[in-house]
Amino acid sequence: MIRIAIDGPGGAGKSSVAKAVASELQIIYVDTGALYRTIGMYMINSGIDLKNSQEVINHLGDFTLELKFIDGKQVILLDGVDVGDNIRTPEVSMAASAVSAIPEVRQYLLDMQRNIAENNSVIMDGRDIGTVILPNAEVKIFLTASPEARAKRRYEELIAKGVEITYEQVYEEMVQRDNNDTNRSVAPCVPAEDAIILDNSGFNPAETAAAVVKIIKDKQAEKENKGDEKKEKTVYMKLHRFLAPFFRFVMRLHPHGLENIPAEGGILFCSNHIGALDVIAIAASTNRQISFVAKKELFSVPLLGKLITVLGAIKIDRGGNDVGAIKASISAAENGGAVAIFPQGHRYPGINPATTPKRNGAALIAYRSGCDVIPVCIQMKNGKYCLFRKIDVIFGERIENSTFNFQNGGRDEYDKATDLMFDKVVGLSNYGDLPCYDPNNDKHNKPKTKKR
Ligand code: DC
Repeated sequence: MIRIAIDGPGGAGKSSVAKAVASELQIIYVDTGALYRTIGMYMINSGIDLKNSQEVINHLGDFTLELKFIDGKQVILLDGVDVGDNIRTPEVSMAASAVSAIPEVRQYLLDMQRNIAENNSVIMDGRDIGTVILPNAEVKIFLTASPEARAKRRYEELIAKGVEITYEQVYEEMVQRDNNDTNRSVAPCVPAEDAIILDNSGFNPAETAAAVVKIIKDKQAEKENKGDEKKEKTVYMKLHRFLAPFFRFVMRLHPHGLENIPAEGGILFCSNHIGALDVIAIAASTNRQISFVAKKELFSVPLLGKLITVLGAIKIDRGGNDVGAIKASISAAENGGAVAIFPQGHRYPGINPATTPKRNGAALIAYRSGCDVIPVCIQMKNGKYCLFRKIDVIFGERIENSTFNFQNGGRDEYDKATDLMFDKVVGLSNYGDLPCYDPNNDKHNKPKTKKR
């Protein structure tokens, strides 16, 4: 089932595009404006003063209104009679706008609209579909265009139907209707917070339909990807359930500060790096699924490569600035995931981490995703993994993203943020006795010497 909400002002082309999409996706198109139009028309025909809301409300029980779909096409029956095109006149447009501002009228039509979407895939157009009628719609689009462009389209439509009207009249009415629909206190015509706004001023109907179809397809692909991520999560969590206690036991893992780890929401773990086992030490210490940023070489190791892919590891090419890995990490954190990164970039067993080089990937991810950071310090005797050696995995207090005081990003800000997070990592433990990093004896960062 898919529910697509298309909201926007009159003349934006909602109905043409919704019809095209409905026929392409083989789903029902619901034109909710037609319901307000029908009530507006009834009230005019009954001589009711539209300015008198109470009078309109009093007459709501005087007629029957049915919404049917015959051969997939919407039909509205007023007292059993198909309203057809009688609801498409400029006079009825204004009446529809007037009655639609009355909360009781909106309430009267609410269930009718929701019920259709409950049992069918729909594309529904209106003013409040994404905000009120279908707040959980899978796709929400707010289609709009300049008043001039919309008035021109409406004018051409009406002339083609033989209505005698000038462009100026259409424009005036459109602006007035926009005003009514946007500024009313109940269900105003405004984009839902999660709607995609599409301005189609310079588009023809085919181009608008293509743009809308693309938005829908992108949304569907996004949903499928999320489904895949969830599948990965279950594999990860399934393995985690029995492997974590095993590793905690055999590696003599002693986690500390687990209360600092949020149960959900995007978060970045930033840890010192001693060896390949760091990944297991962190993963087995926590109950959250973590995407580790892992060097690309690991992905080509038979079996291991497959395993870490399934577990959602993020591949990074340490040779250069791996934009893809950083983007994947940002998107994981933005989507509420936990990401772990080792700012030292390489493993430094037996060396005081406070003295090693650092890279700015973690700071960049924190800046771009806006997520908070948990400093992690892995500590053991001599700063090296060794069989039966007790390992402490210390999770520090959450560093709020605002602490980094990011303004516009950039090298200086990243350097400062990296120092701040890594100082916290180092501050969690005491590696003071370990030898310091020696740049002349570093296989990862060989000092550049000129060839003679
Ligand atoms: O989309 P339309 O032009 O047929 O709509 C006619 C009027 O009905 C419009 O001025 C505002 C109102 N309307 C509404 O308030 N909420 C909807 N979901 C649809 C239409």
